[in-house]
Formats: sequence, C-alpha cells, structure tokens
Amino acid sequence: MRRIIYCSQATYDIAPDELVALLDVCRRNNAQAGLSGMLLYSNQSFLQVLEGEPDALSAAYGRIAADERHTNLRLLADAPTSAALFPDWTMGFEHVDDEELADEVDGFTPATLYPLVNPDLISNAGVATTLLTLYAKNRVR
Ligand SMILES: Cc1cc2nc3c(=O)[nH]c(=O)nc-3n(C[C@H](O)[C@H](O)[C@H](O)COP(=O)(O)O)c2cc1C
Repeated sequence: MRRIIYCSQATYDIAPDELVALLDVCRRNNAQAGLSGMLLYSNQSFLQVLEGEPDALSAAYGRIAADERHTNLRLLADAPTSAALFPDWTMGFEHVDDEELADEVDGFTPATLYPLVNPDLISNAGVATTLLTLYAKNRVR
C-alpha cells in the first residue's frame, strides 16, 4: 500500500453543485480501484490524501493531475505505508468555508475548527497529514 498527499489550486471558483458531482465521480472510481482518502477544499485550494495499491494510485493521480479544474499540483508525500489512514472512506470531503453545503448535502459539514487549507500553509507532509486527520476524526463518510 502507498499513500500520496498533494495540494493544488482550483482554476476557477468551483460551484457547490460541481463539487458534489466531482465527489460522486471520486467515490465511484475510488471504490472500484480500492482507493481511500480525504479531500479538503477551501478558498480555491485543494488538499487531498489518496491511498491504495501503487498501480491504482498512480493511475488515479495521473487522471487527477490532468484535470483542468485545478493546477499547480504539489506532491507533499508519496511513500509506502502499512495501513490506510482512511480505510473506510472512498473520499471524505470538507468544504471548509461553505455552511450551505451542510444543510443541502448529506456528508458535507462545514469545518471552522482548524486552519484553512492553503498551499502556503501546508509546508510539509506532516502538517498536511495532521490537518487531514483532524478533519477526518470529526466528519462523516
Ligand atoms: C481536486 C480533485 C480531486 C480529484 N480526486 C479524484 C479521486 O480521488 N478519484 C477519482 O477517480 N477522480 C478524482 N478526480 C477527478 C479526476 O480528475 C477525473 O475527472 C475522474 O477521475 C474521471 O476521469 P475520466 O473522465 O477520465 O473517467 C479529482 C479531481 C479534482 C479536481
């Protein structure tokens, strides 16, 4: 098993509807590929952890990296791991600053407890992992 963490910047202001659709695709594909993970979105910044078998992981990351909805992907971590951090999550999600989503969509919860996801703040993989884990602990699948 392998784990990658990357951050990126959205190329435009992605609407809540589109995030929902994106997440549907993530969950469907990831379930099929045996991948798990967590995705944070805030202020047009993404932070994502993805884990699974190396081949499935590279294939997914290749697709993700080619997605024009985001740019400036920065790989923060890429390492073998003995256990998944998010074994039960085909893709946990946080839209860190949109309270509306919480009312509208099952599985979304606004989170204001922890620092915003911003590539400038995520200086290393340790910080990113801690942040993702904090969100995951408090969130629905
Ligand atoms: C920030 C971000 C994260 C994404 N995460 C995943 C993911 O975890 N799994 C996945 O299958 N697709 C993910 N995607 C979507 C892929 O880029 C791509 O649209 C999707 O895999 C469908 O590819 P296809 O149309 O070639 O089948 C993500 C896209 C973005 C912008």
